[in-house]
Amino acid sequence: MTYLTVYTDGPAPETLLRTEDQAEIATTLKEIGVRLRHWDIVDGLDDATQDEVLAAYRDEVAAVVAEEGYTFVDVAKLGPDAPADVAAGARAKFLNEHTHDDDEVRFFVAGSGIFYLHVGGRVNAVFCEPGDLLSVPKNTTHWFDMGTSPHFTAIRFFHDDDGWVGDFTGDQISARIPDYDTIAAERG
Ligand SMILES: [Fe+2]
Repeated sequence: MTYLTVYTDGPAPETLLRTEDQAEIATTLKEIGVRLRHWDIVDGLDDATQDEVLAAYRDEVAAVVAEEGYTFVDVAKLGPDAPADVAAGARAKFLNEHTHDDDEVRFFVAGSGIFYLHVGGRVNAVFCEPGDLLSVPKNTTHWFDMGTSPHFTAIRFFHDDDGWVGDFTGDQISARIPDYDTIAAERG
């Protein structure tokens, strides 16, 4: 289940909220236009292929596609068997603050990752776990941290089958906010 930490965004960020209360998390995110939903978890997909993952969640995926008009769906996966340079490169790619011209919609099938949503002077660190479907609207300022030992399988939804690119803000704020490893350790 999701874990949310909220920070101020100044030079010395302070923690405003830490919660595992799913209703509180959904309400907090709704205030910034971000939607969090939960699907029933299908177990045993850790070693599944992309087709097997999409087949396991066929009905849920179809409903989201019909609702939001997505035209392309795929599965992103990174695990302990990834070479260190591949893992580090993948992590670095979206660790700096950016926006997209498309929604960023992810369903966590396995593992975890943190979306940091920087809105209204606050940073909402959404620790996503299996069963979490997070919908970040286009143009929301954010970054993503998968940690130094990435492990996740996520279904991704796009409006554009060219995928999506990041428009980086140049703000180094992600260096000031606790990273994935820190939050994961704090959560225990
Ligand atoms: Fe992004």
